[in-house]
Amino acid sequence: MKYYPHIALLLIILGASGANAMKFSAYNGDVYFDHRMHRLIYDCKSCHEGPPQHFELDHESGHKLCIGCHRKEGKGPSRHCSDCHKTS
Ligand code: HEC
Ligand code: HEC
Ligand code: HEC
Repeated sequence: MKYYPHIALLLIILGASGANAMKFSAYNGDVYFDHRMHRLIYDCKSCHEGPPQHFELDHESGHKLCIGCHRKEGKGPSRHCSDCHKTS
């Protein structure tokens, strides 16, 4: 990706404010997902099959999608459960 300083700044602001984070409930700690930040990096079809709309995530499909990409990219949480599952 080409480097755009204003996008980097926007990411920092959004990250710091926690704006736009989706929450997935899980008994071992809810998972927060910054949809906006991920949308800025990737095409909709990286995650949405067909038209981008609501889809169900569960334990297996959630891990496959989220951890699968983070492993492949070498970025984002993949090793430590608590990087995604927040208990406090
Ligand atoms: C990249 C983020 C991420 C990481 C890292 C991660 N998880 Fe998850 N996990 C998720 C998502 C997303 C879901 C789906 C949540 C939902 O279905 O609402 C999930 C669901 C689960 C569930 C099902 C919870 C429920 O209430 O049904 C369990 C159990 C779980 N993860 C355990 C783990 C363990 C153990 C680890 C570490 C080895 C781990 N997870 C690491 C994102 C992650
Ligand atoms: C990195 C993965 C990823 C990317 C990229 C992504 N999404 Fe999503 N999107 C998700 C996940 C995960 C959900 C939550 C599952 C759910 O509840 O529908 C979601 C939910 C949605 C929803 C339903 C919830 C809502 O906010 O209304 C819409 C609409 C949506 N995405 C549109 C888009 C569009 C448009 C793009 C491209 C500009 C996009 N998404 C890119 C992962 C992604
Ligand atoms: C298509 C690839 C891709 C998918 C799918 C994806 N991520 Fe990420 N994620 C990334 C990348 C790349 C980064 C690192 C961004 C950076 O630091 O520049 C990241 C960073 C993160 C971070 C750390 C930054 C932050 O927002 O606090 C979290 C947490 C995270 N992802 C959660 C998730 C969850 C939860 C899902 C599934 C619902 C998911 N990701 C799906 C690529 C992906």
